[in-house]
Amino acid sequence: MRILITGNKGFIGSHLEKRLRIEGHEITGLDSCEAQVHVAHDGAYRIGGYNKQALKSLMGSIDVVFHLAARVGVGQSMYEVADYVSANTLDTAILLEAMRGSSVKRLIVASSMSVYGEGAFCDPRSKELLDRGSWEPNGAAMPTPEFKPPDLTSVYALTKYDQEQLCLMCGEAVGIPTVALRFFNVVGAGQSLNNPYTGVVAIFASRLLNNKPPIIFEDGNQTRDFVHVSDVVQALCLARELPHGVYNVGTGKRTTINEVARILTYLLGKTGIHPEITNRYRVGDIRHCWADIRKISSFGYKPTITLEDGLEGMRGWLAQQTPADHTPEAVSQLEAHGLLSQNPLRTSG
Ligand code: UD1
Repeated sequence: MRILITGNKGFIGSHLEKRLRIEGHEITGLDSCEAQVHVAHDGAYRIGGYNKQALKSLMGSIDVVFHLAARVGVGQSMYEVADYVSANTLDTAILLEAMRGSSVKRLIVASSMSVYGEGAFCDPRSKELLDRGSWEPNGAAMPTPEFKPPDLTSVYALTKYDQEQLCLMCGEAVGIPTVALRFFNVVGAGQSLNNPYTGVVAIFASRLLNNKPPIIFEDGNQTRDFVHVSDVVQALCLARELPHGVYNVGTGKRTTINEVARILTYLLGKTGIHPEITNRYRVGDIRHCWADIRKISSFGYKPTITLEDGLEGMRGWLAQQTPADHTPEAVSQLEAHGLLSQNPLRTSG
């Protein structure tokens, strides 16, 4: 099969490309090689920077498109608005225009759990409560199903929703079955350790490798669903056969951020370093979100790697990395843009 992967040099894209090459497919990649995420810059193409006619003729020789390219920093998206809208929304629109009348028979697009906002069935948290350090939302936290209405709390989330809805809508209109996969928090070797704006596991690992404590927002008891990149690749491959629509990709299990810090500290042999619990919150952050995976599981998806095993498997790779610690810079950026609160315990007393 002739396959196009946008974002093929990225964390998930590179794992997918490896697997599809083993399966014997012919792969074409399009990647902007953003300096924030990538080390190497070879053959860099942003979709919108690609010649329209060339993109159209490329689509004439493709059977399946995996559209993974996106800018991915939630906090950063709140001040680099034009760039996020351009890279995520506009470039998806350009890709879809090029797909009209092409040989493409299936489109798979990477979406995100960020479209849900607070997970099911918790109420969004008010600023007033957060400013008092009252972290838990009202409502009983449950696994989040695909039918939970979107609640878009960042420019990033809005543009991921744009990406999935544009693909589903245009795919349906031109008869290309389209699958949007809502990835939860993806972990695994190859994740950028130099991008301080995304991915708590990568951020904590960079801190610890620099002998600095992980910085924990709120009280660290917020929970996420950490899914290993090989299970994400499993879902992407399965998506070639799934009916048109939206599917969650997670593990169905949740872990606290404190637990993530504890496991990483132990695995990296840094048990003398204790995480710094800040009692500060990131504006727009959510408290609990983990996946209800019944829909995709009914088509054969089965997560195989626990967070502990996934992190254990990353240990060798992590030990070889020498990332710079960009956390202070990211914290200053968030503060400068009013996206990080003061410590309520400190300011009140
Ligand atoms: C966000 C997006 C998600 C996206 C992911 C990676 C939302 C709701 N979700 O997830 O779609 O895939 O980013 O781009 O917008 N934390 C710390 N200290 C840190 C960093 C993070 O305590 O140094 C905490 C955060 O407060 C949060 C949790 O760790 O509670 C997870 O944060 P992060 O890895 O940034 O991802 P999400 O916000 O869950």
